Parts: sequence; C-alpha cells; structure tokens
Amino acid sequence: MRSVNDARKWIREAEAITVLTGAGISAESGIPTFRGAGGLWKQFRPEDLATPEAFERGPKLVWEWYDWRRTLIAAAQPNAGHLALAALEKTKPRFTLVTQNVDGLHERAGSRNVVKLHGDLWTLRCTVCGREKREERAPLPELPPHCGCGALMRPGVVWFGEMLPRAAWEQAEQATRAADVFLVVGTSAVVYPAAGLVPLAKTCGARVIECNMEETPFSAELDRAFRGAAGELLPQLIAS
Ligand code: OAD
Repeated sequence: MRSVNDARKWIREAEAITVLTGAGISAESGIPTFRGAGGLWKQFRPEDLATPEAFERGPKLVWEWYDWRRTLIAAAQPNAGHLALAALEKTKPRFTLVTQNVDGLHERAGSRNVVKLHGDLWTLRCTVCGREKREERAPLPELPPHCGCGALMRPGVVWFGEMLPRAAWEQAEQATRAADVFLVVGTSAVVYPAAGLVPLAKTCGARVIECNMEETPFSAELDRAFRGAAGELLPQLIAS
C-alpha cells in the first residue's frame, strides 16, 4: 500500500507528466493486444500484414485486416484507464500523452495533447500524391480505397521498417526529457524507438511508474511497477 501512496503523491505533486501507452490500455475496451495470450501477432504474422512489402504484394488483404480492426474499434468505447488519463491532463500545466496506439480511443476519452508515434487508423494516405484524408466509416465502402487522383490509399499507420513521424518523435522525446513523472501503461516495451523513451525518462530524472498486467524488460529498474489492469490501477493512482 505504501508504494501506491508514494506513486499517488508523485503524480499529485508533479507539474510535468508524460505518459507512454500501448495496446494494453485498450484491452479492457475489447481491443486485442499484439503480444501475449490472444495477441494479434499470435494469429497473424506482422510481415504478412504490417510492412510496406506486404501492402505491395496484397493491398486488399492488408486492407481487409485493417478494416476488420477499424470496425472492431468503431464499436468499442474508451475505458476507465483512458478516462483517468484524460481527467489527469485537466489538472496539470504540462501533460503529454505519447501513444503507440492507432485506435483513437484516447482522443475519444477527451485527451487533448496526444502524440501518436505509430499513426492513426482513421487517416488514409495516398500512396502516390500523399494526400491525407480522415475517414471514420467502418467498414469502408471500397476495399482497397482509392484517392481522387486514382492511386491506392494506405492506412495512415507506421509499418515495420518505416520511420516514425519526425515531429511526433521529437515532441515525445522532449516531453520525456522534461517529465517529473513518466507513466508507462500497457506496453510490452519491446518495440523501438518507442520503448527507448522509458530508460530516457529514468536517465533524465523522472519518477517512472509502470502499470501492466505482466513484467516488462524495464520493470525491475523503475521507481514503481504495478501489476494489474490499467482500468483499475490508473483511477487509483490518479485519485487525489
Ligand atoms: P503489446 O501487445 O506488445 O503489449 C501489450 C502489453 O499490455 C503487454 O505487456 C500486456 O501485459 C499489457 N496488458 C494487457 N492487458 C492489459 C491491461 N488491461 N492493463 C494493463 N496492461 C495490459 O502492445 P504494444 O506494447 O503497444 O506496432 O506494442 C507495441 C507495438 O508493436 C504496436 O504499436 C504495434 C505492435 O506491433 C506496429 O504495428 C508498428
């Protein structure tokens, strides 16, 4: 109990909070994670679905998978974990929510300063002219979708082997360096460069607090590592 009280105090007193979230925060909304039991990468191979080469080989197949996920997420609701983070943001002068998730559930919960490292499922991008379009219909009326210029559109997400959006990465790094408290929630912390923010936060002097169902490669080095569901832990940690 002492450790929860300490973490609550750090969060309450911090002026600058940065959060890194992963698929685990959306698990309680019914969205499958990537790794672990029931994870998407147990059922599917990332190289078949989440690489530029896969899209070149079979844009329709790749789109069917993304559209299945879009449809699942469209029917889901933000959970208590997303809502707790949105409420915390309102109480802090400096708050940055860095997410690896592409589901948009943080924004739907009311979070404002969201940095999306891996893009967004609700954005489509033309493979030729680069035009971006927000498209919230799920399922999509046409698979694969086409741009006004006639070329194929792709999901506006980051695939394996691709660079992260530069501005988002710079913002994430800067917010990590400046954080008094860094919360890591629902990420296996094995995919880089995002995972590198965790040791960066520690090196730069933040109190680092993890909320995860399982141990991660960083758990032992952090100030606190809580085991449990984000939707239960976050409301406890954030209550003043
Ligand atoms: P993972 O699926 O790798 O990890 C999910 C983490 O959430 C695991 O550590 C689980 O223990 C934890 N977890 C599950 N349910 C939870 C709950 N209710 N509360 C708290 N924790 C829970 O997902 P990410 O770390 O987000 O990238 O994966 C990182 C990237 O790998 C993704 O953005 C995606 C993927 O391949 C791309 O597609 C580029």
